[in-house]
Amino acid sequence: MMNEAKRARTSHSIHELIATRWSPYGFDARPVSESDLRSLFEAARWAASSYNEQPWRFIVARKKDAAEFERMLACLVEGNQAWARRAPVLALAVARLHFSHNDKPNPAAQHDIGMATCSLQLQATALGLSVHPMIGILPQRAREEYTIPQGYEALTALALGYAAELDALDDTLRRRDEAVRLRKPLSELVFARTWKRTAAWVEDPTGESS
Ligand SMILES: Cc1cc2nc3c(=O)[nH]c(=O)nc-3n(C[C@H](O)[C@H](O)[C@H](O)COP(=O)(O)O)c2cc1C
Repeated sequence: MMNEAKRARTSHSIHELIATRWSPYGFDARPVSESDLRSLFEAARWAASSYNEQPWRFIVARKKDAAEFERMLACLVEGNQAWARRAPVLALAVARLHFSHNDKPNPAAQHDIGMATCSLQLQATALGLSVHPMIGILPQRAREEYTIPQGYEALTALALGYAAELDALDDTLRRRDEAVRLRKPLSELVFARTWKRTAAWVEDPTGESS
């Protein structure tokens, strides 16, 4: 069931999938089916990437394999371990840092991991699942645990599963998961003609100013 407090309070109309995606701290113990897992990573696979490099790789650990789950959990910073251990699935997103066609550094690698993660998050939302990305990981530990080769780097982790009902959570997690999601106003984000000059159409509901 959608946590209504988490639905984006938008100023303009957006797609339901974007409005209802959010990053829970509290996860339900319910496992994620293998078919849903395949759909999530298939969605990531079809993200856009610079030169179609597809620099994303994912290492996935499921709670049903307790030892593997603990290994991946240990690649998170402590603050993230505390809540992410509730999730039924963890994944590490690893970036290939160089282009395969010329071996030059790929300046879009991290960007494209974000693209793939976003596709995965929206697919998850469509399936009633939630994803919480984390930059708070221990990349060197991940490199050692999973023999990640040079030229690749663990960038983020993902906790994924079904968001818990609020009344199943302790106070700390419940407060986080019932907080209203906030964003900067569009007027601070979209400019025209010069830096910080809000594009006129952003504030003109008729859309007729230039
Ligand atoms: C790349 C990235 C890294 C993040 N790292 C962390 C993290 O290490 N720990 C954490 O608790 N949340 C992390 N988050 C979650 C953000 O705090 C969250 O997306 C943001 O507060 C907006 O909330 P929403 O996703 O529910 O809209 C991260 C999000 C992104 C996109």
